[in-house]
Amino acid sequence: MLRRLHPDQPDSFAFTPANQAWAEAQITKYPDGRQASAIIPLLWRAQEQEGWLTRPAIEHVCDMLGMAHIRGLEVATFYFMFQLQPVGSVAHVQVCGTTSCMICGAEDLVAVCKDKIAKQAHKLSADGKFSWEEVECLGACANAPMAQIGKDYYEDLTVEKLTHIIDEMAAGRVPTPGPQNGRYASEPAGGLTSLTAHEGGRDSLNISARMATDIGDTIKRIDGTEVPLVANWGRQSGDAATVAARPTVPQEPARPVPANRAKKAAAPAAPAPAVTEAAPVRLEAPRKGGADDLKRISGVGPKLEGVLNEMGFYHFDQIAAWTPEQVAWVDARLKFKGRIERDDWIGQAAGFASGQ
Ligand code: FES
Repeated sequence: MLRRLHPDQPDSFAFTPANQAWAEAQITKYPDGRQASAIIPLLWRAQEQEGWLTRPAIEHVCDMLGMAHIRGLEVATFYFMFQLQPVGSVAHVQVCGTTSCMICGAEDLVAVCKDKIAKQAHKLSADGKFSWEEVECLGACANAPMAQIGKDYYEDLTVEKLTHIIDEMAAGRVPTPGPQNGRYASEPAGGLTSLTAHEGGRDSLNISARMATDIGDTIKRIDGTEVPLVANWGRQSGDAATVAARPTVPQEPARPVPANRAKKAAAPAAPAPAVTEAAPVRLEAPRKGGADDLKRISGVGPKLEGVLNEMGFYHFDQIAAWTPEQVAWVDARLKFKGRIERDDWIGQAAGFASGQ
């Protein structure tokens, strides 16, 4: 495929203030004279902001890195992950057309895209909301056929499912990514035959789909106001010192995920009132009689139970007694922020503690 710049280009490009600060922070990762090594992440952030990579964006990034424009153009035109033409204002659908997906129905999915979006790949739909392309294997062959839409994978697709997903997105909603046929992950279609206990068995979403849902940026433009993933990764260690020592990028308060993107960055939303963290009372070991089965709490699997035990929580009544400040403390040390409230751990634990 011939990759060249789109004939219609905007006059200029500028990162949002937050993305500009992020980009400048990335450059500091590299030693003097090696700033050009930041070209891929900066081009990628420009694309995340605008949806596609414009010539002014490529040149802006080159200027930031002290590179000749031709070198940035070489990078942008070489890698297929960079979109060199406008993409749909809502989403760009990337249908995998490699072997597994092809024999499982990828051609039917492409037909859906041709019917609902545009006859030709890389063309905008009539309303400008969608575009599509066929791509090479995306590494989810066990869940063929599949498509990447925005940042997430939609797997085990059918004509009806993909049609529904596109319709939902057109209406401003974002269907849950991951397998679309009820499978948890890539287990046999007939169900698990071995290793039948796995984390998340009480959660309907696998870890990738759960994270995608929690982050909520599947088809959202990235303007830099999001809480950086690195902050969440730091929290996984559960070690406050490790978190504090981790390099972080400048950030602004998270904002609600818009159903659709704004053309340019919107003003950052007002910060949510912060809840001060306070450590709950923790135990060295379970009380006499042994630990409660915390897996009875919906949303707590074997692995999460182990994490809670390591933190000193063994009993339902401990969890039932958490205050908002203590929830904030625990939340900050778990993998998925907000899970305690969303799954009502405290209410569930109170019920179990009272013998219900
Ligand atoms: S063949 Fe489609 S994801 Fe691998």
